[in-house]
Amino acid sequence: MITEIKRKVGYLAAEQIKDGDVVGLGTGSTTHFFIEKLGKRIVDEELKLLGIPTSYQSFFLAKDARIQITTLEEHDVDIAVDGADEVDPKFNLIKGGGAAHTLEKIVDSSASKFVVIVDGSKMVDKLGNFPVPVEVIPQASRTVRDQLIKMGGSPTMRMAERKDGPVVTDNGNFIYDVKFSVDNPKLLEVELNALPGVVENGIFTDIVDEVLVGTEKGVETLK
Ligand code: 5RP
Repeated sequence: MITEIKRKVGYLAAEQIKDGDVVGLGTGSTTHFFIEKLGKRIVDEELKLLGIPTSYQSFFLAKDARIQITTLEEHDVDIAVDGADEVDPKFNLIKGGGAAHTLEKIVDSSASKFVVIVDGSKMVDKLGNFPVPVEVIPQASRTVRDQLIKMGGSPTMRMAERKDGPVVTDNGNFIYDVKFSVDNPKLLEVELNALPGVVENGIFTDIVDEVLVGTEKGVETLK
């Protein structure tokens, strides 16, 4: 079952963390298990850690797990562990299914080691089946949407579950989920961020060191 696979891969990643590490804490249902296991290790092994959350969600989970919180102002990140929505063979990612990709990219890209934890369904030959999340300053919603369409994308504003308004990110912005043919991930990542009003997009290139892939058979480490 998928939840069990996520637990296995999250728990295994938590075993990589060493006493004294400053840890980037990703966002999502897979990193939920990573943070949970760190909490268990803090109690069982008296592990001393500092955590840098990538969202309010991971901030509150980390507090529950008794991880001491710090910031990028105070510390460099030794290791960041985060989930992904798609991973291609070159370890390019689409992230942002949880609307947290802006801070995730800041924390994950600053880490000495960045480990991605996914279940096997996230491994793809080519990015783009999952729409690319683009965080947008609200006042730029219309102008950015027009530009995204000009670039060949099909943007949909992400709506809150009750459909009574847009999802608002931790930074107070909106999200477009944009269907693209992602032929050149690096180029698209750069071009999207060049649009006035775009805060950050969910394509992550050139920053992943390791991917832990969970399946029914176990967890495989790709480097
Ligand atoms: C949040 C993310 C998540 O890491 C991504 O959506 C994967 O989530 P999950 O582990 O729940 O499948 O990028 O912004």
